[in-house]
Amino acid sequence: MQVISTIAELRQRLRGVTYIALVPTMGNLHEGHLDLVRIARERGQCVVVSIFVNPMQFGVNEDFGKYPRTLQADCEKLEQCGVDVVFTPTEHELYPQPQQVTVAPPLEHELCGAFRPGHFRGVATVVLKLLNIVQPQVALFGKKDYQQLYVIRQVAAQLNLPVEIVGGETVRAPDGLALSSRNQYLSAAERIEAAFLHQTLVDMRQAVLEGATDFAVLEHQAVQALIARGWQVDYVAVRARNTLMQPQRGEQYLVILAAARLRQTRLIDNLEVCI
Ligand code: PAJ
Repeated sequence: MQVISTIAELRQRLRGVTYIALVPTMGNLHEGHLDLVRIARERGQCVVVSIFVNPMQFGVNEDFGKYPRTLQADCEKLEQCGVDVVFTPTEHELYPQPQQVTVAPPLEHELCGAFRPGHFRGVATVVLKLLNIVQPQVALFGKKDYQQLYVIRQVAAQLNLPVEIVGGETVRAPDGLALSSRNQYLSAAERIEAAFLHQTLVDMRQAVLEGATDFAVLEHQAVQALIARGWQVDYVAVRARNTLMQPQRGEQYLVILAAARLRQTRLIDNLEVCI
């Protein structure tokens, strides 16, 4: 496995490789990331994992400074998964000059976008840069960040990028909490409470499967239940999977998405439902 931090060296390494699979990450790798890496390993002749904590997608009061950086441990895990190249650019390498945002991604003010201004522009920009640098045939992203996956699919399609975007299922802890680098910000008590976010979505899914059609009521009940247990809720929303907007009457393919905070730690989760 090679660890490469410059674009020039990476391009040199990838020259002539016919099938590249890319897994973009911000590092601090857990089983959720490694699951994507394993899918990439099955798909690609050459697996590239990028590790870059992208300042452009963090808001001013967000956790860019304290985001866990664990490069050595990450490389050990990636080596074990049979990764070929780890791309670890510096900030200057990716952003040598003030970055012009070239895309206004869809839904940038919806769901998480409403609470994280500029976040999806930052995500779309860095992902487009990575796709241009690596030029993979396939790129993998987790359904855990459902809106992110949606935005990346849309942007790639709108710009006719010759890359297949593949979504991996959310990897969870035994109590249902979606694995996330941010889980380590939780205190012991908060970590126990954190599973309730997933439970809320499971309960909503059950209600939908049992025939509930007034999604606004379900959303309101879920928000109240979370607030009663000390959560600060950004949103709980039942959306159509193909638009991430309010479902039309009779829509079969739904996804329930939520974002809420336990003190400073913001958690997101989602569950697909098919009725
Ligand atoms: P990061 O949070 O490091 O996640 C990297 C990839 O792993 C994303 O596609 C994310 O959806 C996926 N992932 C995270 N937790 C997961 C879980 N529990 N199960 C399955 N997949 C999971 O997402 C980012 O980085 C950044 O926004 C990035 C796309 C790299 C752009 O900077």
